[in-house]
Amino acid sequence: MNIELMTVKWEDESVILIDQTKLPSKLEYVRCKRYEQIADCIKNMVVRGAPAIGVAAAFGLALAALKSKSKSKEELIKDLEVAYNTLRSTRPTAVNLFWALERIMKKAREGNDIESIKKNILDEALTMLKEDIDVNKMIGFNGSSLIDDGDTVLTHCNAGALATVAYGTALGVLRAVKEHGKKISVVATETRPVMQGSRLTAFELKHDGFDVSLAPDTAIGSLMARGMINKVIVGADRVLKSGHVFNKIGTYQIAVLAKMHNIPFYVAAPLSSFDLKSKPDEVIIEERKYDEVTSIGGRKLVPKGVRIFNPAFDMTPPELITAIITEKGIVKQPYDESIPRLFR
Ligand code: MRU
Repeated sequence: MNIELMTVKWEDESVILIDQTKLPSKLEYVRCKRYEQIADCIKNMVVRGAPAIGVAAAFGLALAALKSKSKSKEELIKDLEVAYNTLRSTRPTAVNLFWALERIMKKAREGNDIESIKKNILDEALTMLKEDIDVNKMIGFNGSSLIDDGDTVLTHCNAGALATVAYGTALGVLRAVKEHGKKISVVATETRPVMQGSRLTAFELKHDGFDVSLAPDTAIGSLMARGMINKVIVGADRVLKSGHVFNKIGTYQIAVLAKMHNIPFYVAAPLSSFDLKSKPDEVIIEERKYDEVTSIGGRKLVPKGVRIFNPAFDMTPPELITAIITEKGIVKQPYDESIPRLFR
C-alpha cells in the first residue's frame, strides 16, 4: 500500500488527514491539533467514508484528552463528553462514528487516573487505526473468491483506501483480486452530487494501476443491459441485523438494476459498520446542503425557489443483496440468521 494513500495518520500529537475535498487535482493533507478541527473535517467531508470517519473521531477524542487541563478523572471525563457530543453530531448515518466514540469512551471510563486515561485513549485509537487496515485485508481476502478473472466490476461512491485508513472495503476486495493475479476491469459511477466516484474512486484506482472507467450514474442501466457489467460491489455506512444496507445515495437503484439483469450485488463491510439494534425506519438518512445539487463548480444550475431533495444515503433491502463480505466471512440470506452468527 502506497503510504501516500494513508487517509488517517497520527504524527507529532496531531491527526493528519488527506483533504478529500481537493482530490483529484491536489493531494494535500490537513493537520488537526484540536478535536473541533476533526469535527469540522468530518462535517465538511475533508475526511469521509464510514470507517475513516470512525477512526478520525477516535483520534478526535485522543486530542481532546491530550489538550484537557483537567485535574481529576471526573473533570477529564466531562471534557471528553463535550468532545464526544460535538463529534457525534457531525454526521448521522455511518454507524462507525458512534461505534468508535463509544469504544474510546469505554476505555476512558476504565482508567484510574488522568495520565493512564490519556495514554489508554491514544493507544486505543492507534489500535483502531491498525485494526482497520488488518480488517480490510481480511475482507479483501474473503471477498476475492467471488470475483473471477476477466470480470468487469461496478462500484459506487468510494469504499476504498480513501474511505478507510488504507486499503478499503469494496475496493479492498478488488485490490486482493488483483494481488491474486486475476485481471479485472472496474467501472466507477460518478456518484452525484459530491462525485466521490469520479474524484476519489477513479483517482485511487488509477493511482494503483487498475483498468478503471467512469460512467455517469444515469448510464448504469444501459451498461448492464448491454452486458458490460458482471458484478457489483459496494461498501456500507450501516448494515442492520435484517440485512438492510444503508450506503451512498444511488446504491438502491443500482441494486434494483442488478437484480433485473441477474448480476450479483455484493456489499463489503467490517463488523464495525453493523448495527444490530436499529430498525430500518430508525436510521437517520443525512440530508445535505442544497447547493451540492443546485451548483456545479460554483455555477448555479437551478432556478431560484425550486424545492431540492438531497439525501446522502439510501437503503437497499436484503432481497437485493447476493452476499455481504466481512472480516469474519461471507454471509447470505436469511441475513437475520447469518448476521447474528458473525457476532457470536
Ligand atoms: O458521504 P460519504 O462520502 O461519507 O459516503 C461514503 C459511502 O457511502 C461509502 O460507500 C461507505 O461509507 C462505505 S466506505 C468503506
